[in-house]
Amino acid sequence: MNYQEYDRPKVHFTPKKNWMNDPNGLVYFEGEYHLFFQYNPSSNNHDNMNWGHAVSKDLYHWEELDTAIKPDELGTIFSGSAVVDKNNTSGLFESGSGGIVAIFTHDGASQQQSIAYSEDNGRTFIKYDGNPVIPNTEIVDFRDPKVFWHEDSEKWVMSLACGDHIQFFNSPNLIDWTYLSSFGKEYRSHIGVWECPDLLYLPVEGSHEKKWVLIISINDDGPNGGSAMYYFTGSFDGQSFQPDQSPEDDLKWVDEGKDFYAAVSWDNTDEKYWIGWMNNWQYAESVPVSPWRSAMSLVRRISIIEKDGSFLLKQTPVTNDNGKLEKEEDIHVTPESKAVYNIESPSELNIQVQKDVSDVWGVDFITDKEELLRLEVDPVNDQYILHRDTGRTGFSNDFPEKIKGSLNGFDGSQVTAVADTSSVELFFDNGVTVSTNLFYPEGVISRFEIWSKAEKLQVEALSFRTLHSIWN
Ligand code: FRU
Repeated sequence: MNYQEYDRPKVHFTPKKNWMNDPNGLVYFEGEYHLFFQYNPSSNNHDNMNWGHAVSKDLYHWEELDTAIKPDELGTIFSGSAVVDKNNTSGLFESGSGGIVAIFTHDGASQQQSIAYSEDNGRTFIKYDGNPVIPNTEIVDFRDPKVFWHEDSEKWVMSLACGDHIQFFNSPNLIDWTYLSSFGKEYRSHIGVWECPDLLYLPVEGSHEKKWVLIISINDDGPNGGSAMYYFTGSFDGQSFQPDQSPEDDLKWVDEGKDFYAAVSWDNTDEKYWIGWMNNWQYAESVPVSPWRSAMSLVRRISIIEKDGSFLLKQTPVTNDNGKLEKEEDIHVTPESKAVYNIESPSELNIQVQKDVSDVWGVDFITDKEELLRLEVDPVNDQYILHRDTGRTGFSNDFPEKIKGSLNGFDGSQVTAVADTSSVELFFDNGVTVSTNLFYPEGVISRFEIWSKAEKLQVEALSFRTLHSIWN
């Protein structure tokens, strides 16, 4: 697909036209990574939800396919997941060799969980004729089933968002579900409704250990306002989740930027990857783009690191090594002299500065129309600030010009930034702190400048490259 719009993201998935929100049904099957997504095929607003569909062979280049799951008499098709039923536990596949099963919420008179299966590699789905598999008439918010195969109990396990808590269910066959336990009421310190959970078993880097991690999206009251995600590390025995944190502990944010939401992981992969919706419910329906609305984040590999007895999520962006890498070493920046480099958009930048910077330093991304996106790193105060007061900002009062976040006790000396036509994803300290933010300039980024308020800032390593479009 050779898109012509100047502001169409070049390295982030967007549908050709119309509304998109959460990623759904992420699954790897027979050489393809599937990305289904909340999609309205008939307009640029959140309504009439279907599952749109795209596939990739490398988690970077995407091809959009036809809408995969459409509404029916039980309702529209809200978020959910997909698994590979390798052993045909469901008995839904004639061949006995299994295939993809989608588990989703029917949003009708109430929210209920249903399944559908595909006999043609996810291109089309046949809805199970006994739907819903988890009926419900009482709970108002009862949605976003995320299912995985739990080796130890030899059962499918589902996490389900229920307003102010998560419910866990299990099943031998994806059809008959048993309620197991609930988690979270006492941990819900923010007003937003809980959505899109994911229970992950992630490797702890540098060890042979693995750690259970429960991911939650909250649709309001995030650290910079509106939608955001947080996570709990802990243990899971096939029945219930026990968090390491107590309700009094600080929340661990997945991404303290304004625009990363509803991320969930791919099923049936060795390493764990996920993707998020790059938007915020506060203004998602007003962002100034068309004929599509909303982009996905880059895919990120996720793992856990241990620091001082605490387990932290680490995210590493997947940007295939396709542009010519420019490298520089040992650059000295002072308040009087910046380091200036021309780049083309989209681009990826990796920077490592000295460990003990005594004052604020940063990077300015500047467009060919001289619009400025400024990142300030402030290790002394354990924070960073992104200024996005440039281009089109007036479409919503909730589109703040300043985004702030903590460096989580690290020093911010390593930063990876991926800047596309209308977004910048920032990964500090090798992805322990992440901040994803939209911005809508009139031009495209054409240079960056490293600056410092400290007397001397030593840049120990710098590399950058132009990223090739994912639309081949
Ligand atoms: C999250 C969400 C889900 C729901 C879907 C509807 O962004 O609100 O809880 O299933 O979007 O499109």
